[in-house]
Amino acid sequence: MIRIRNLYKTYQVDGRAVTALRDINLEIGRGEIFGIIGRSGAGKSSLIRTLNLLERPSSGHIEIDGQDITALDAQGLVNLRQQTGMVFQHFNLLMARTVEENIVFPLKLAKKPIDPQHIQQLLELVGLQDHRHKYPAQLSGGQKQRVGIARALANAPKLLLCDEATSALDPQTTQAILQLLLDINRRMGLTIVLITHEMNVVKSICDRVAVIDAGEIVELGPVSEIFLHPAHPATQSMLAESGGQNEAEWQAALAMAQGAVLRLSFTGATTHQPLLHELAQQWGIAFNILHGTIGRIKDTPYGQLIVEVAQANTVDITALQDAFAARGVRTDILQQGKRP
Ligand SMILES: Nc1ncnc2c1ncn2[C@@H]1O[C@H](COP(=O)(O)OP(=O)(O)O)[C@@H](O)[C@H]1O
Ligand SMILES: [Mg+2]
Repeated sequence: MIRIRNLYKTYQVDGRAVTALRDINLEIGRGEIFGIIGRSGAGKSSLIRTLNLLERPSSGHIEIDGQDITALDAQGLVNLRQQTGMVFQHFNLLMARTVEENIVFPLKLAKKPIDPQHIQQLLELVGLQDHRHKYPAQLSGGQKQRVGIARALANAPKLLLCDEATSALDPQTTQAILQLLLDINRRMGLTIVLITHEMNVVKSICDRVAVIDAGEIVELGPVSEIFLHPAHPATQSMLAESGGQNEAEWQAALAMAQGAVLRLSFTGATTHQPLLHELAQQWGIAFNILHGTIGRIKDTPYGQLIVEVAQANTVDITALQDAFAARGVRTDILQQGKRP
């Protein structure tokens, strides 16, 4: 369990103070995949790097499993770093060493015995058993990152930090690496903190997400909540770029609608039920679908529909919202009916 309290980070640049993190408060549970999303310069790297003290906080507390890591002595710091794996955007491999030598490197640094079976298991875990004697220059980007992941796991850490681990990869390779991280999380119960600027990364594997903007956490919650009901403009714009709810698109549809307009959010089992049809029959009304998206958040299917309720003047919208709520569907009123 990680607990961050009142964390600040200020850099001195040419005698000027640049505040990169402002009053960060976070708790990350054991075994969780926790995403931190934000634009370039938002403070993501500064934040993740405080978790293994690659950056020292200017003030505030960071507890890992009940221990204040900012108070560690030199040996404590060495132990912390060994228990914390890190994966980087540009892999940071040793170019003059083979795949196997790269993976073994942290064990050598820690002066730990090297068990060939352990190395074999790491190679198999990341699917590189046939590439162990190659050099990084002979590998694809995805394979390089697999080396990076195996190296990060060599010391059997409890916590894995991923700093834009898929940002240098194409979309297909990104998905393969994300599925590998998810697999590792499930098999080993490893806690993963990952930072990214891409909503799709968060949507694929994270349980919860914090949105960071200009050094502050502006939104925090389960991925489905943040994804379906983004409250902060920074979240909304990153979402639109990732092909999620595009406000401009449905605003156009909204302008045409005469009746009341609702946004319906379905998650899990409700996504596949014929609720609209059922309610339309029961209420003797019609729904015009103006905009819709469906997809998956981690393992959970979701749908979001923007519908116009025809004959809205004769329908009690609040009662209709209750009927949706009773079926597990969240509704937001985007427009009241325009009376003729
Ligand atoms: N070592 C550093 N020295 C001075 N300023 C830094 C340093 N690292 C980051 N910053 C500044 O802190 C802010 C946040 O940077 P960073 O944490 O790298 O953001 P992100 O990872 O979200 O792009 C930026 O304004 C950046 O210029
Ligand atoms: Mg960064």
